[in-house]
Amino acid sequence: MMGRKFKLRQAPGEVNEVTAGGARLIDRRDFIRHSFNSAAGVIAAASLGSIGFAALLMGVAESDGGDSAVRFWVPSGAEDTAWYGNLHLEPMTKSVFEAEAATSSTGMAGAAGVWSGLPVTVVYVPHEENAGSAPVENKPRFQYGDGYDVSGAYIGYGGEMEEDSTYADLAIHNNMVIIFSRCPHLCCIPGWQLVPNDFTADTWFPGGTDSGGNKLFCICHSSRYDPTMIEKNQNRNRTNGTMFDYFGVKLTGGPAPVGMPLIPFEVNGDIIEALPTYLDWYTFCD
Ligand code: FES
Repeated sequence: MMGRKFKLRQAPGEVNEVTAGGARLIDRRDFIRHSFNSAAGVIAAASLGSIGFAALLMGVAESDGGDSAVRFWVPSGAEDTAWYGNLHLEPMTKSVFEAEAATSSTGMAGAAGVWSGLPVTVVYVPHEENAGSAPVENKPRFQYGDGYDVSGAYIGYGGEMEEDSTYADLAIHNNMVIIFSRCPHLCCIPGWQLVPNDFTADTWFPGGTDSGGNKLFCICHSSRYDPTMIEKNQNRNRTNGTMFDYFGVKLTGGPAPVGMPLIPFEVNGDIIEALPTYLDWYTFCD
């Protein structure tokens, strides 16, 4: 049976072969293959499952942060428009995000990245500056909310990740979050400000609402995620059926069932390095 074809207006990777009516058409397998097979060492690990993924993470460290470093990924066609267009595969640094955030009206900055073969989105939020006052429009900060599964059952509260020492390495720090950027709908890769619309405009509203901009936006079927609203939720490993709870960012609209999980990280010197603490959370597209 033919795989489902998605119309892609803008997607990561080198996609050249199939066009129809001016739109590029590729299926999900091609999407992933083209998205990640051109970077040295950044193989299509998203299809390896947690065992292959874990093995990859044990790779050789390099002087620039090695395999634990999160690197910029410039989507094809965004070289001249994304603020990180000339930083493809360079290690991400906190100072680069701070500099970009200073040019933003909200003080936020986000970028597509890759970590050990997995697509991620890193988002900088001026949380420390704004958390001391009540949340108001265009003064973004991280917030915590309740999460519900697809049946509407309550799963938990996002603030548990701050209250429970089990999740200590997820606690908000350095004004940033790293998000595993596979859409829980059909596994496309949501982006940050790669397409212009109301959901990607540089605006922010409190409360995890679907209004306002600075959402992670999935171009496949328009799912939206608020990177500043942290919730606890539940998803399913598609290979073995195991259900798992996770902390992640809230789905605010579109067909995806739940939000996307966080990836813990630390800032080593200035380099942003992710931690392999919750590999099971990144298996819902395996
Ligand atoms: S894959 Fe369908 S909305 Fe993201």
